[in-house]
Amino acid sequence: MDKQFKRTLVTSALPYANGPVHIGHLAGVYVPADIYVRYLRLKKQEVLFIGGSDEHGVPVTIRARKEGITVQDVVDRYHYLIKDSFEKFGISFDIYSRTTSKTHHKFASDFFRKLYDEGKFVEQTSEQFYDEETHEFLTDRNIRGECPRCHALGAYGDQCEKCGATLSPDELINPYNAVNGNPLVKKSTKHWYLPLDQHEEWLRKWILDDHKEWRSNVYGQCKSWLDGGLKPRAVTRDLDWGIPVPVEGAEGKVLYVWFDAPIGYISNTKELCDANPEQYGTWQKWWQDDDTRMIHFIGKDNIVFHCIVFPAMLKAHGDYILPDNVPSNEFLNLEGDKISTSRNWAVWLNEYLEDMPGKQDVLRYVLTANAPETKDNDFTWKDYQARNNNELVAIFGNFINRAMKLTEKYFGGKVPACGELTDYDKSTLNEFKTVKEDVESLLDNFKFRDAQKQAMELARIGNKYLAETEPWKLFKTDEGRVATILNLALQISANLAIAFEPFLPFSAAKLRTMLGMESFEWDNLGRTDLLAEGHQLGESVLLFEKIEDDVIQKQLDRLERIKAENDKKALEEAEQNYKAKPVGELCTIDDFAKLDIRTATVTACEKVKKSDKLLKFTLDDGSGTPRTILSGIQAWYNPEDLIGKQVLFIANLAPRVMKGIESQGMILSAENFDGSISVTTVEHPVKPGSQVK
Ligand code: MF3
Ligand code: ZN
Repeated sequence: MDKQFKRTLVTSALPYANGPVHIGHLAGVYVPADIYVRYLRLKKQEVLFIGGSDEHGVPVTIRARKEGITVQDVVDRYHYLIKDSFEKFGISFDIYSRTTSKTHHKFASDFFRKLYDEGKFVEQTSEQFYDEETHEFLTDRNIRGECPRCHALGAYGDQCEKCGATLSPDELINPYNAVNGNPLVKKSTKHWYLPLDQHEEWLRKWILDDHKEWRSNVYGQCKSWLDGGLKPRAVTRDLDWGIPVPVEGAEGKVLYVWFDAPIGYISNTKELCDANPEQYGTWQKWWQDDDTRMIHFIGKDNIVFHCIVFPAMLKAHGDYILPDNVPSNEFLNLEGDKISTSRNWAVWLNEYLEDMPGKQDVLRYVLTANAPETKDNDFTWKDYQARNNNELVAIFGNFINRAMKLTEKYFGGKVPACGELTDYDKSTLNEFKTVKEDVESLLDNFKFRDAQKQAMELARIGNKYLAETEPWKLFKTDEGRVATILNLALQISANLAIAFEPFLPFSAAKLRTMLGMESFEWDNLGRTDLLAEGHQLGESVLLFEKIEDDVIQKQLDRLERIKAENDKKALEEAEQNYKAKPVGELCTIDDFAKLDIRTATVTACEKVKKSDKLLKFTLDDGSGTPRTILSGIQAWYNPEDLIGKQVLFIANLAPRVMKGIESQGMILSAENFDGSISVTTVEHPVKPGSQVK
């Protein structure tokens, strides 16, 4: 970052308008982007913050089919819901538009056409899966079939959710249309490809040599893509939802969502600048001037598109600047499990706002404190409660409340005069002198989590200062000393208001009003003369409130319910998808005769100590000597219920010792579709030891 830029353009990934946004979105992309932008604005820098909804692609069409409404209805509904959530969380976009806008359609279409006219694409015809009944080509996600690895049914064309394998539709066994179950055929179709292989050389240099400062997760992912060799990527799709490919003979084809969506950053900038040219200047100033620094905030699944594909598009076009940094986060989990829209495993922002009104800053604080900056991280409600109660309330809120209340009580809410400083006062002031540089350098390096921690140090220092100087004990004897202490406490409070504006904008605004601060800028941080002697403070309000256990329990109960629903659904799905396994290799009657299968009566059955799987059976096998067999079916049976039953077992299986007990054979059981076990019995009683043939 040696170059001095004149202005900064900040983009944040355009969320798919196929559902509400959740805490993972906020933690990974929008809160860090917003902190950064607010910080730059406080520094009086020229900055634009671009957002919007990504309304094309397959996910929105799947949602529409599921709900039986039009795709337009889906994107309308979620675009406004998402926009509203962001506003309420204080995500301070300069524009939040959408990729279905007229401006965007035209802009993206023209962008494609220019590359097309200049021969920047390659055309390729290939065989793709096609549904002859609906006359449509299917995208990877809309193709399902049997997984070639684990043979789970219903694996997707790009991935098997059962075993996690990355797949291509060609690998699926018996592929079918995910929507209607129709079998698929191969049909040839023409598409346009961005020849990334031709861009590899400059990309290598640009990223690997010139941007060594990028976060290691981002740099590492790019390096492994580049080392693997780049291949041409299709930028068009056979789909009826999206921006039509502006080429003759391309009917029924649209731009690939990952081609048009990042162009949305540009068209949204254009929409904003065209509407307010005095305020923002031209869109070209933001996209085509080397003095502009561009930063993309994204989640880790977006890295390749923002670091390789989109830059290649911009370069192919010419005229455009490239991003200076792409601070991508890892993922946030929820109570130990991966956040999932389809499994409803998330804290949705719109629901949070209903359940926790006025607590936007608490969530912002917790998500930043736990930001998944370098590794995946976990959100838990207990941690949320603890950070609120022990940090925001007990340290930050408590300090401000004391400083305000004491000033009201002793000095009628007027900032008292600062007298002579003691050594302790001086050392306290010294402790926060460097806060500006500290927080600043962390923010400049996109280390939001540490930056917030450092800002919080101010509150800790203030809290400790009041606790140790105990001004409430001194007023009768030394009013001048109390004045000095409170003056300093109020100066620290004013510093807190500035330092926290990027992180907790609602609380910082309240604090600013309480303190009646007129001048408000980042460069004032660290100063101890922010509030003049005699300045009248405003009314004091509580910044944070304790969160009680029952409030947290409600959230935990909700998640329990969702887990139970998901388990039930998974079971129903497994039952529906059940198919008998293909028959194995043939064997002869002689092979079968080697197994001595017999009946036996269970005379005793109990759990094996220190095992949560094994049951110990005592059997009457007709020999006169009791036989012991261990079987791993504890999860499915009460041992007492099995006593008296006649079961089938293999009598000539070599004995085996488990948990110190010798198992003399094996009891035969059937495994159901859901993995549960059912012991085999005979249809009517026979003598123990009867052979099964
Ligand atoms: N909609 C994409 C996602 O949620 C992100 C698109 S970012 C953009 O993963 F650059 F394409 F806009
Ligand atoms: Zn699999």
